[in-house]
Order: sequence, then C-alpha cells, then structure tokens
Amino acid sequence: MVLKSDDFLANEIIGIIGAGFLGRTLAETLIEHGFPKEKLMISYGGKPSTLESIKKAGLIGNITDNKVICQKSTIIFIVIKPQSLKELKNLPFTNNSLVVSCMAGISSASMEGALGIKVFRIMTSGPDTIKRKKGIVAVYPQNDTLINILSFLNLRVHELQDEESIHVFTVGVCLPAALLIANKIGLNIEDSIETIDKEYCGFREIYYWAKNVLPVFDSEKAQTNYIEHMSTEGGITESIVNSLKSGDTFLDSLRKGIARSKEISTFAMFALTGDDKSND
Ligand SMILES: NC(=O)c1ccc[n+]([C@@H]2O[C@H](COP(=O)([O-])OP(=O)(O)OC[C@H]3O[C@@H](n4cnc5c(N)ncnc54)[C@H](OP(=O)(O)O)[C@@H]3O)[C@@H](O)[C@H]2O)c1
Repeated sequence: MVLKSDDFLANEIIGIIGAGFLGRTLAETLIEHGFPKEKLMISYGGKPSTLESIKKAGLIGNITDNKVICQKSTIIFIVIKPQSLKELKNLPFTNNSLVVSCMAGISSASMEGALGIKVFRIMTSGPDTIKRKKGIVAVYPQNDTLINILSFLNLRVHELQDEESIHVFTVGVCLPAALLIANKIGLNIEDSIETIDKEYCGFREIYYWAKNVLPVFDSEKAQTNYIEHMSTEGGITESIVNSLKSGDTFLDSLRKGIARSKEISTFAMFALTGDDKSND
C-alpha cells in the first residue's frame, strides 16, 4: 500500500528538535516524500557548521525556536544527543503532541521523567540507509500514526514487544560499520549472529539487511569516512568499532555494543541533571 502524506498527515505539523545528521535526514526525507515544507519546523544547537548544512539542505526557513516547536507541533521528533537532553527540560511539551525520541539508549521512562509527558521511542538505521530508501526502524511502544509516518518514509518497521530489545536492535543497525571492520580483519561473523539471534529473534534478519546495505567503496578513505559518519561520539557504533579494533571477537564486540547501549541508558538521568558522566 502506498501512503500519501495528504491522507494521514493532513492535519499534522511536524517539529524536529536537533537538525544534525539524522534530524536533517528525517526532515529532507519527509519533504521528498511530499510532506508540506511549511508544516515542518526544525531546530539546532547553534553550531555555525550545522547552520551551513541546514542552509545546504534548503531548510533555513524552517528553523524555529524549540519553545514554538513544542507549542505548535502535533508530532515532535527529538533527535539530539543524550548529553543535550537537559537543555529540553523546561520546554512546554504536552501530551497533545506525539513526542518521539530518536535517541539511542535513553529509556522512555527516563524521557518521561525528564519531560513530564509520554514519549515514544524509535531507533533508526543510519541516515545513509534512510536516504537510499533502505532504512529500518524499531518502534516502542506501538503507535499507528508513528508507524504510518515511518512506513511513509520507506523505513521497514520492527515493532518491539519490550523496550529492552531496543538495545539489541541498536547494535543491529550498527552492523554495517561492524561488518566492514570484521570482514577486513577476517573475523568469524556467522556464529556470533547465530548466538545473538537465539536471544533476540530477528537479529539474523537485521544481519541480512546490514549485508544488503553495505556500499561498495572506491577507496580506503571512503570506507573510513563511512564508518565515521555511522558513529555518534560516545555511542554504540563507536564502542563496537573500538572493541573490534582492540582485538575482541565479533561476538564480544556486539556484546560490548549492547552493554554500551544499556550504560548510556543508565546515564540518562545524570545527563538531565547536568552530570558529565553522560559524556563518557
Ligand atoms: N547518526 C545516526 O546514525 C543515528 C542513528 C540512530 C539514532 N541516532 C541518534 O540520533 C541522535 C542524533 O544523532 P546525530 O548523529 O544526528 O547527531 P548530531 O549530528 O550531533 O545531531 C544532533 C543535533 O542536535 C542539535 N542540538 C543540540 N542541542 C540542541 C538543542 N538544545 N535544541 C535543538 N537542537 C540541539 C545539535 O546542534 P549543533 O550541531 O548546532 O550543536 C546537532 O545538530 C543521537 O541521540 C543518536 O543516538 C543517530
């Protein structure tokens, strides 16, 4: 079924808080798929380089203050890094908007505790896969409007039964970068996938997705750039990549990625109160 934005998004105003790599990709993809530009609001943290990228994406006219985004949007995507979350604490979020966190590792309970409203979570694959219409996304808890929007963006939706599974899914979307390094080193991948699949049914499917989205690179530098683009500083991809580079097995590096996701989760409340541990 092909969804048209005017069918189910006609009355929606979408706000994207955090127009970085992922936030801009969501904004551009929405517009590319027919969502009206005038109904899209975005914000960023003030970095001149980010403003340049927003300009390049043709979205300068969409920049809006976070407070206005909260007041006017019916759907809000939060796409900042966990360590910036404390900056959103006093914004006028309400349950009249569908608020969706795209942040890795931060539980809906932490978000709800911080913002005082119900928060849905999604975990997307990297911006490059979304741009190539090959993205996947996990959703928790289930919400029809959200699933419709994500499907409209050509993302293959995985509806999670429990929030804990998001940690394993997150490692799954980091697999493209991990596979590139593991293949280069010559590590045993299949057995590790098998092991994780026994704990999280569906991991093998994500592995096949990851193999399918691996681009072909014309140089070592292009491959290094790709891995860097996949990584958020202090995030899960970075922890898997560092683990592989330090000589761990593929299974151990995946386990470290899962552990890092859980660790970021426990740091969430520190991030909200300004404790620097969130940046570790
Ligand atoms: N990139 C991925 O592949 C990926 C995949 C899945 C999930 N995620 C999650 O998505 C989130 C963003 O990742 P990213 O890679 O897009 O990082 P990013 O490029 O650093 O984007 C984060 C953006 O948030 C902006 N920001 C900071 N404080 C803000 C504030 N108070 N109000 C509005 N915007 C603010 C930053 O603006 P400035 O640049 O001006 O500081 C930056 O542009 C992370 O939580 C990550 O876990 C990322």
